[in-house]
This record gives sequence, structure tokens and C-alpha cells, in this order.
Amino acid sequence: MSRWKDIYQSKLVSAAEAVKCIKSHDRVVVGFACGEPQVLVEAMVHRAGELEDVEVDHMIAVGPSKYCLPENERSFRHRSLFIGPGSRKAVNEGRADYVPIFFYQVPRLFRDGFYPVDVCLMQVSPPNKNGYCSMGVSADYSIAAMEAAKILIAEVNPRMPKTYGPRMFHVSEFDHLVEVDYPILAFPRAKVGDKEKKIAEYVASLVDDGATLQMGIGSVPEGVASLLTGKENLAVHSEMLADWCVDLIEAGALTGSLKTMHRHKIVSTFAMGTQELYDAMDDNPTFEMWPVDYVNDSTIIAQQHKMISINSALQVDLQGQICADSIGPQLYSGVGGQVDFIRGAANCPGGKSIIALNATAKQGTISKIVPLLDLGSSVTASRNEVHYVVTEFGIADLRYKTVRERGEALIEIAHPDFRADLRKTLYAQYPGYARYRERIASAQVSD
Ligand code: COA
Repeated sequence: MSRWKDIYQSKLVSAAEAVKCIKSHDRVVVGFACGEPQVLVEAMVHRAGELEDVEVDHMIAVGPSKYCLPENERSFRHRSLFIGPGSRKAVNEGRADYVPIFFYQVPRLFRDGFYPVDVCLMQVSPPNKNGYCSMGVSADYSIAAMEAAKILIAEVNPRMPKTYGPRMFHVSEFDHLVEVDYPILAFPRAKVGDKEKKIAEYVASLVDDGATLQMGIGSVPEGVASLLTGKENLAVHSEMLADWCVDLIEAGALTGSLKTMHRHKIVSTFAMGTQELYDAMDDNPTFEMWPVDYVNDSTIIAQQHKMISINSALQVDLQGQICADSIGPQLYSGVGGQVDFIRGAANCPGGKSIIALNATAKQGTISKIVPLLDLGSSVTASRNEVHYVVTEFGIADLRYKTVRERGEALIEIAHPDFRADLRKTLYAQYPGYARYRERIASAQVSD
């Protein structure tokens, strides 16, 4: 038997045994989103009665997130680096905290000692023949937290895809290992409705052959991908991978052959999708999972070939300020990599950044294009950086436009029911805009 196998055996414990090392007031970092080590988290929460104010640092809580439940308020204090469905209520009731932060900076919190890591709970794939475990669906901040942790504990799950990337962990690097066998957290594919089809058509019209894509999850990315299957030599450099990626590979549209870096590779930092996506990634050297401070570094993004970033928003004001992480003062999600990619795409020759959103929310009763962001909203992406905004009514190209031109371009892509009010508000605020518009219109008529 190879030596690593002895080491592996010597580290194996039960989940209950592994989490005994967690003490009151410790900081515990938990594996990101779908990489969450659910059995270890459950075992930690099981100790709620013995613990006080353990800080749980986590990003995109999509699992049961029981450390966020009101009955565990005294035992655990969650620090969210991107709010997920499991943490939204706790954050908005003040039982948990939210850190607004660009995704590329998150590893720095742990690596540079801003948030010293007492215990790190992760999930990895089983060791390969040389005793190295891969990061599976999640490299993001996980690598930095694992390296910084005083105590490193990981679940070893045979269902975690074996993925490639710059860093794998040898079994000797873990303090404890816990064998588990359960399906990785998965997300079903989104249905593409009529509005999203229209948005996707506009977005797809901005994508050239050979472009490098960044997209997230949901109906717009699904719709866009379905319209890109006839393209040639697309590539992916995206913080997130979802099922659209598999569709593009299968269609032969995604080859990465024109990539300037990592030619032929699909580079990402985390995956969130169906089992089909995870199966496609398993033991597939085409996929590389890199830490987020590399993938989301805007200088790296800017070097990609024709970088196209496609993200979404909750509200856009008439100056082009993007709110994507709050609804008024209600904290909704997070900054994530939106700004990292907007910035990178803007600095990439031939690059484009796109914010794609439905023109309305709440069954068409409210416009997402608004004169002013709701009181208490955060500005996720600044008006200085936003380029294309796309709705089901068209494309507004905001880059280098004046405040007046931005407002007018955005009104053109608002839902028709809201355009008159938006115009009225804009012109009431800046009466000279209306006079100028009339002058230009009458000059055009007399031409
Ligand atoms: N006013 C009030 N409520 C609004 C609203 C608005 N302007 N816009 C949306 N909502 C509500 C919706 O009705 C929906 O509520 P429901 O869940 O009760 O139905 C909810 O907010 C979510 O809206 P939706 O448009 O479905 O959001 P989404 O799931 O498409 O996500 C973002 C959009 C902006 C929240 C998401 O893309 C995000 O978090 N982005 C920031 C991070 C990022 O871009 N990262 C890079 C991509 S990986």
C-alpha cells in the first residue's frame, strides 16, 4: 500500500468527531455554494447547545444553512460574502452579517489574515492514485481558506467531480477527513420564457464568433446559449459554470481555439448546475477550476479574446447605475464578480459588458428601469463602468454617453407602459433636456 493511503486512513474520522475541535468564538469557513460540505455543517450545527458565537463565513448559502436559524442565533453568527436563499432572512433580520466585496478580493480576506481562519470545512473529490484530492466544483476562495486554516477538515465525496486546476490538496495536508456519499447540491435548468427569449436575442446579437463568455445561471444565460450554438470557436472564462456550457460544447460552438490564455480550456472558479454539468466536468481536463483571485482578476479578464460578460440587475437608474444586490434596504444577494467582469471586459480589445434584465418585475407592475434607485439600494456597478444594458425591448449602449443620453437610451428600452412617466421625471429634473430634444427634433423635421 502506498504511504499516502496510510496517511489517508489515519485521518479518517466521523463528522461528529471532526467538528469537536470547533470552539466558541472560532471563525469557521465553509465551502462555497454547491461545494458546501453538508454533513460537516450539519454536525457543527448539532453542537449548537455547546457553542457560543461561532462565526460562520460562507458565500452563497444554498444548502439548509441551519446555522442561520433563529434558534441558533446565540451559537452561530453567519458572515455572508454573498447572500443565498439560506441566509437572506437571517441577514435581513440582523441575525447574520453581510460583507459587500468584489469576488476577486475574497481570498485575500483569509490569505492576508484579515479574517484569520480557525477551522475550515470543505468538500473534495477522493484522492487520485498519488493521494491528491481535487477542488471539485469549487476553487473560488476555498483554496485560500484551506491554506490559511489552523485546522483543515474535508468531506471526501465520490460524487464530487474530479476537476483539474493549479492546486490539489495532498491527503497529508488535511487534519481530518470524513468519508461521505451524497449528491452534490444541484440546480435544475431554468425555463426560458418569451421575455427572456427576446432578451437573449438582443444579447446574442452582440456576441461574435471567437468571443470568450462569462455568464451565470438562469433563463437568460440558457436562452443566450441556445442562440449561440451556430457560432464558431467560442470560449469560456467565467467565474461560474452552468449547464449552458455543456450545450455549447455539444453543439461544437465552444472550442476555445482562439483563446489568448488557457487555449482550448474552459476556465472557471465554481460550478452550479445539474448533475449533467458535474458529470461533464468529471475527470475532464478541458475544465480548469482556478482560484477566484485569478479568474476574476480584471487584468486577466481583459487579456481574453473578445471578452463578453453577461450579468443581471434588480434596478437600473436613468444614469446607468446598476443595483444588483439589494432591493431598497433589503439585502438580496451580493456583488459577486459582476464588477470584476464589467471592468475586465471594458478593458479588453473587442470586449463588451452586458447587463441583461427584464424591463419589469412583480408581474409587470413595476419598472426595473427607474429615475432613481430605491432609497437604501446599493450601487453594485457604477455608471462610469456600465456598457450595454439589454431588456426585452432592446439594447442601450451607455458607454461614453452623457447623463442625458443615457437617460434617453434607457427610457427607449423600458417597458412602454412606464416610458412616459420616466421621461416626465427626467425632464422635470433637467428641463433643458426637453428643450434640447424639441430643438433637435424640429431641426430634423425642417431638414
Ligand atoms: N423591485 C422589487 N423587487 C424586484 C425587483 C425590483 N426592481 N427586481 C426583482 N425583484 C424581485 C423579483 O420579483 C424576485 O422576487 P421573487 O423571488 O419573490 O419572485 C427577486 O427580486 C429576484 O429577481 P429576479 O429578477 O428573478 O433575479 P435573478 O434571480 O434573475 O437575479 C440578480 C438577479 C441581480 C439578483 C443576480 O443576478 C445577482 O445577484 N447578481 C449580482 C452578482 C453577479 O452579477 N454575479 C455575477 C454572475 S455569476
